[in-house]
Amino acid sequence: MKMIKTLIASTVACAALIAPMTQAAPIEIKFSHVVAENTPKGKMALKFEELVEQRLPGKVDVKVYPNSQLFSDSKVLEAMLLGDVQLAAPSLSKFQKYTKKLQVFDLPFLFNDIEAVDRFQKSDKGQELLTSLEKKGLMGMGYLHNGMKQLSAYSPLKVPADAKGKKFRIQTSDILAAQFEQVGGIPLKKPFSEVFTLLQTRAIDGTENPWSNIYSKKFFEVQPYITESNHGVLDYMVVTSKEFWAGLPEDIRPVVAKSLKEAIAYGNEVAGEKTRSDRQAIIDSPRSEVLSMTDAERQQWVEAMKPVWKQFEHEVGKDVIDAALASNQKKS
Ligand code: LMR
Repeated sequence: MKMIKTLIASTVACAALIAPMTQAAPIEIKFSHVVAENTPKGKMALKFEELVEQRLPGKVDVKVYPNSQLFSDSKVLEAMLLGDVQLAAPSLSKFQKYTKKLQVFDLPFLFNDIEAVDRFQKSDKGQELLTSLEKKGLMGMGYLHNGMKQLSAYSPLKVPADAKGKKFRIQTSDILAAQFEQVGGIPLKKPFSEVFTLLQTRAIDGTENPWSNIYSKKFFEVQPYITESNHGVLDYMVVTSKEFWAGLPEDIRPVVAKSLKEAIAYGNEVAGEKTRSDRQAIIDSPRSEVLSMTDAERQQWVEAMKPVWKQFEHEVGKDVIDAALASNQKKS
């Protein structure tokens, strides 16, 4: 009997020693993005890391890679399908290889303001677009705001004729290319990480960006004129791969989903704040002048760029464009 007791005691002791060694390694979630940490997306990613690690200590390890440290936006989705990264939030302009429908967000002067963009994203059609990548193995987990885009250049851009012959860096979107071609500009698709150097060396004349990107990447230091055009939107879709999501353990997945939802809500608050504070910081800076447009000047840009809607209607879908336009009406 004594021998059995000793045997049981030593087995228990051994098991206690081995247990910590055999405990499963934490699930790694790599979140790759291209902007600075002090931006809506940068802060959203860090909030996600904080929430998940607080709620799932030792079970999930989130690693955030900002500033294109891990992947550029042109590589990140392929990497995600290969399992090399688990979360990303590319701009809605970066998905055209996977679906044409999301290009609705690139149509110039379609949305009156970021509130209209928000209403569209929350509408049935907007929610349906979150599933538009599923056939390609990707899942849209939610939209994240950055903000409305402003034009910037080495010379003042007040009317469309001012853009003629100028080289503009654009994201990888055919609609954005067509938008600048409509005003006689020369669009160049280039990675975000190259924009500052392209501007600094004058390889390009101008670009388009929301206030937080212009500020955090110091584009305002190398662009003497910024026109407050609000001509389009730069927002994001937070994405993961279907395979990774399905493979998460049942007790982990809802916690990750809840943390993501809360981090996105937080990121959207930051976007509102940054739009105001980064715009003001740029206005206050002696490095660049912020120009506004009169209604008549703005109307010239609208008339020059709006034909792009018809040009891409067959790709984006009339139903999608109409739903986006309807979101300009405030619900009473
Ligand atoms: C860009 O390439 O200009 C943007 O997509 C960068 C970003 O993520 O805001």
